[in-house]
Amino acid sequence: MDPRLLEAARKAMVRAHAPYSQFHVGAAILADDGNIYAGCNVENAAYPEGWCAETSAIGAMVTGGGKLIGEIAVMGSGNEFTTPCGGCRQRIAEFGMADTPVHICGPEGLRRTFRLGELLPASFGKDHLP
Ligand code: THU
Repeated sequence: MDPRLLEAARKAMVRAHAPYSQFHVGAAILADDGNIYAGCNVENAAYPEGWCAETSAIGAMVTGGGKLIGEIAVMGSGNEFTTPCGGCRQRIAEFGMADTPVHICGPEGLRRTFRLGELLPASFGKDHLP
């Protein structure tokens, strides 16, 4: 894992707006343009309107001009693996490939690296569209 991802995910995590779950998450992407893009979860009093850290990081990447996810780190404040939710797996797949590394981290560092294809097998993508 690019060591810059860990610190970027940590910095984003401490900015999380998570007053309802108290579950703080940061995500950081190393994109094809060489830049790191990070984001945090942003909750809302109307609960379903909140969104995940990975979604924020992807938005930052697209806004910044990145086109592909080279690797992504996700850091959660909990003791378990903070693996991306189903919707975020699909969003990561839009800009990644089956072998794209997804680094699951905690405040202490890297916990485990998955490949995107492990997290989202037999996924639907642009190749399925006419
Ligand atoms: N959350 C993320 O930001 N990313 C994940 O990978 C899992 C869950 C957020 C959403 C919500 O704000 C909080 O964690 C609890 O589900």
